[in-house]
Amino acid sequence: MRERSRHVVCPAGELPPGTRKIAKVGRREIGVFNVDGRFLAITNICPHHRAPLCVGPLTKEMTSSKVGEYELREERNVLRCPWHSFEFDLETGRNLLEPDRYRVAVYEAALEGDDVVVYM
Ligand code: FES
Repeated sequence: MRERSRHVVCPAGELPPGTRKIAKVGRREIGVFNVDGRFLAITNICPHHRAPLCVGPLTKEMTSSKVGEYELREERNVLRCPWHSFEFDLETGRNLLEPDRYRVAVYEAALEGDDVVVYM
């Protein structure tokens, strides 16, 4: 099993709740999000046509069980690609419509001391 490495992304003060930071970690570019105090990290490349996924809007999942009725699922954070609007679960990296076909790497992220760190 490959050992994970720890990387400091930024001081916590640079990433308050509701913000994101795109950072280069080694040869990878990732987006680190502070969602209500939880840190989540995902690769900044959309698997569809390689758009910079992490500049897209972060929303909640919208579902519908009847025509004309919509419901927001607050517990699921969805990152929408800025080019063609494919939607990805920010926690799993899986596309909402085709989770086995389109998937993005996600990484553990955390607040440690005064720093936001990721493990890759
Ligand atoms: S490049 Fe992301 S949906 Fe097409």
